[in-house]
Amino acid sequence: MAVTQLDLTREYRLFRREINRAIERVLESGRFVLGEEVGALEKEVASYCGATWGIGVSSGTDALHLALRALDIGPGDEVIIPSFTFVATAEAVLYCGATPRFVDIDPTTFNLNPERVEEAITPKTRAIVAVHLFGLPAPMDPLLELARHYSLLVIEDAAQAFGASYNEKRVGGIGDAGCFSFFPTKNLNAYGDGGMVLTSHSDVADRLRTLRAHGSSERYIHRELGFNSRLDEIQAAILRVKLTHIDQLNEKRRSVAAAYSRALKEVVQVPVEPAGSYHVYHQYTIRTPKRGRLMEWLKKRGIGCQVYYPVPLHLQGPFKYFPRTCLEETEKASQEVLSLPIHPFLTPREVDEVIEGVLSFFKAL
Ligand SMILES: Cc1ncc(COP(=O)(O)O)c(C=O)c1O
Repeated sequence: MAVTQLDLTREYRLFRREINRAIERVLESGRFVLGEEVGALEKEVASYCGATWGIGVSSGTDALHLALRALDIGPGDEVIIPSFTFVATAEAVLYCGATPRFVDIDPTTFNLNPERVEEAITPKTRAIVAVHLFGLPAPMDPLLELARHYSLLVIEDAAQAFGASYNEKRVGGIGDAGCFSFFPTKNLNAYGDGGMVLTSHSDVADRLRTLRAHGSSERYIHRELGFNSRLDEIQAAILRVKLTHIDQLNEKRRSVAAAYSRALKEVVQVPVEPAGSYHVYHQYTIRTPKRGRLMEWLKKRGIGCQVYYPVPLHLQGPFKYFPRTCLEETEKASQEVLSLPIHPFLTPREVDEVIEGVLSFFKAL
């Protein structure tokens, strides 16, 4: 039996009525960009994450880019980021004219290692971007402590972690700004592109509203060079439906992850969930030095699997030339990680099939 990595049609079939009704509501309203649905979604997401304001934008990439700009990050500034992340984390820093400073990860959580972060701080460092990779919160307390000590800003890249929490606080609402992607594959997902920045600083929220709308807060008056980065009403209406189900969907991901971990912990490194963290398993990522052969074995059996991320950013085109610390753990992880199928609609048979696929590989060795 084939098991695909992700199947978005199952979600639509389950919520079809609610989603269709939400889309019709927007079509009937005749308002399609930055209207009542976006306003309501901004309030609902901010309140869910414990932030004061939400600012809807057109993607997670824009959320990061505009958040850094709104916090006045620019040329001459260094921003600490992991190299083991999706490219948008680093792109956003470059879009602002700032310099990314790549820092190594913890080999078990795949998130930034705070000790390595401290070593990388220079007089030019202005901010840390904490990526909550694969749905597991980054170690926010040590990172916030460093930020307080060295007067740095903390931006959360929570694109993969909607609904995750760290010491009872939802991610996205912890740092100076929290950035979400609503790309269709994300835990809270639209049917197109979308994103949001959360913040509790009112000046940053104002600046974000201006930046997303051509630098304008008053019609045809442009305070600064801005962008067209608006969230549309249909996506916001769909997201409002999904938001009412997100906790239950994340719980389903967690039960799939628990079944995988119980069965696979003896043969591969399985994901960890440090005390105080609530992991939402955007990806279920195992680690083994036999990654290449395991991947071939699973693909032959029709079991979807994917490497996130095969080449760390500091080794790639536009990012090769920037200062970095030793990135040994990042480079090793990129050779050994493998993400197995995970989504809330996997059936118990499919979960068993994936487990059997992995176990049979190790038995046959
Ligand atoms: C960690 C991370 N940051 C940023 C992004 C960018 O989001 P988007 O694709 O909505 O621009 C993504 C997702 O693709 C991501 O996984």
